[in-house]
Amino acid sequence: MKVLVVGGGGREHAIVETLSRAPSVSEILCTPGNPGIAALALCLPGPQTPAALTVLARQESVDLVIVGSEAPLADGVINALTAAGFPAFGPTQAAARLEGDKTWSKAFMLRNGIPTADHRSFADVDEALAYVQSHPLPIVVKDAGLRAGKGVTIAHSQAEAEDAVRAIFSVPDAQAVVEEFMTGQEVTVLAFCDGVRAVMMPPSQDHKTIFAGDVGPMTGGMGVICPFPVSDADLQTVQQGILDVALRGMAQEGTPYIGVLYAGLMLTSEGPKVVEFNARFGDPEAQAVLPLLDSDLAQIALACVRGELLAEQVRFSPDASAVIVLAAPGYPGDPEKGIPLNLPPTGEGEHIFQAGTAMQGNQLVSSGGRVLAVQARAASLNAALGRAYRLADAVGFAGAQMRRDIGGRIGARPE
Ligand code: GLY
Repeated sequence: MKVLVVGGGGREHAIVETLSRAPSVSEILCTPGNPGIAALALCLPGPQTPAALTVLARQESVDLVIVGSEAPLADGVINALTAAGFPAFGPTQAAARLEGDKTWSKAFMLRNGIPTADHRSFADVDEALAYVQSHPLPIVVKDAGLRAGKGVTIAHSQAEAEDAVRAIFSVPDAQAVVEEFMTGQEVTVLAFCDGVRAVMMPPSQDHKTIFAGDVGPMTGGMGVICPFPVSDADLQTVQQGILDVALRGMAQEGTPYIGVLYAGLMLTSEGPKVVEFNARFGDPEAQAVLPLLDSDLAQIALACVRGELLAEQVRFSPDASAVIVLAAPGYPGDPEKGIPLNLPPTGEGEHIFQAGTAMQGNQLVSSGGRVLAVQARAASLNAALGRAYRLADAVGFAGAQMRRDIGGRIGARPE
């Protein structure tokens, strides 16, 4: 089958790489793609609007579309592609509100009894300021809209909380969600969803701040370990008390959820609670999780679209996987662009997924914040981390930022 992937980041590189191993896939297109993806798929430039993607799907007679990133989903590309008769893997515009509108998403969790942090939503800056001024610290201040993983501040001081509120309300029609700070291990559970059933992928853990020790500004994610150890009891709660309830609620409310549901969770002393839902694969979680997928991603996606997903269709290797992100100097502020990148050869079980990269003549250069996601697998997490760090250290990338403590929260050490 001919598959079109929408996006051009490291997550989409991992999706394309996984499709390139899928027996049912004969041809892969990607829009806009990136230089790394171009080694595996035909990259086609163009806007990611519902109308443009429908024209592209028609011109290329694709059999399946997989949408990687959140913005086209929130714009309704799945609605448009489905209406035009193309199997399109991802949530509709209404279902993508689980990520795109955090005020709505929190209300959905409350009305369906999904465990999450206590919160208040605000559409007025002064009310939000008054609330954070009277609330004990730390406190979590979130932009209710899409901010590429960077609209969240964990405020440890009143001034930090107030600055975060003012930054959110510096644009028109903003809304803020202010939440209690939850403690525990943070874990991501991605699930393939067919509108009724949710089939979990192995849990993973992202590292979201720029600096080691979980300090500094939030980023899109600086490194991942997979699988993250979660007890059977907690996994059962995630499946039955969170994912199944979310899918039932979405279906009952007339917006069945198809695609990948990203449950960002805190494993608290009271059990797993939802930090956030996202409406797509995580980035860089996908780069750690998908290399472990042993079954055919295109067949899984088609089964989801048709409402026929079977748990037996989704098989993962028992190996461990680690991702180390190399980011440009200046990220997550203003990243330096045009830095030459020299990539070492990769061995079996290793990948260098590209995100913010571009070609300048024959030279690969940096063109964004998170530039590369270096991934390796092995029989143990420590061995996977060792392989990933050795490969990351071999990359030529002057001034690259890299966290040296990925996996450290659970005592994992590169070996
Ligand atoms: N890694 C965080 C996210 O994908 O939102």
